[in-house]
Amino acid sequence: MQQTPFRAAIFDLDGVLVDTAKYHYRAWKRLADQLGFDFSEHDNERLKGVSRMRSLEILLEIGNVTVLESEKPVLADRKNRWYVELLGTLDPSALLPGALACLGALGDGGIPVALASASKNAGMVIEKLKIAPLFRYVVDAATIANAKPSPDIFLDAARGLGVDPQSAVVFEDAPAGIDAAHAAGMIAVGIGTAEALPAADMIAADLSRLDFRCAGGTLVLGLL
Ligand code: BG6
Ligand code: MG
Repeated sequence: MQQTPFRAAIFDLDGVLVDTAKYHYRAWKRLADQLGFDFSEHDNERLKGVSRMRSLEILLEIGNVTVLESEKPVLADRKNRWYVELLGTLDPSALLPGALACLGALGDGGIPVALASASKNAGMVIEKLKIAPLFRYVVDAATIANAKPSPDIFLDAARGLGVDPQSAVVFEDAPAGIDAAHAAGMIAVGIGTAEALPAADMIAADLSRLDFRCAGGTLVLGLL
């Protein structure tokens, strides 16, 4: 793990700041049920950090189901409607341990913070969680040409914050996100387990296990 202090922090959303993975799973499972095959929580791991359309393709692969190209957007939209329905009751109680505290510490310490989520629902989710004002820049997933593990989303976040990519640290729960951060020249903190995220530069079960020490516009990270 790099000892140089960081000048910016970039967060993934689903699985890092909020536990929405269970809602994504329930909505995809409903679609799988409708299409007539089983879809387990274990299978769902493959969908984490992956774009909506690519997730659909993986789901269809798991079910060994072939559909017309023209049907794919219809199925992806149906899943998204169910997902958004499940988000109806989302409120700040869904924030994961340490999320609010670390965003607060970074804000107080003058460290610019960006959100870099593949989710096109990210804007709505952070509004519901009441954390939107804590981000200086929120990437619009719809404008990112290449999904994680391509570095595009994190490079856009660094550009939006006006910092060098190498000076930013990324918090991610998906292997594709860790790879994307590395491809962008960034240090990646894995939120989860070392087994699930072997390429991460540092691992924490959740954000509450990390020590965010900010001074003079720089951040030094430690494990608690
Ligand atoms: C990621 C999730 O954050 O966003 C994926 O980890 C999800 O599971 C992706 O597929 C896209 O989300 P959405 O809300 O645009 O369908
Ligand atoms: Mg995630």
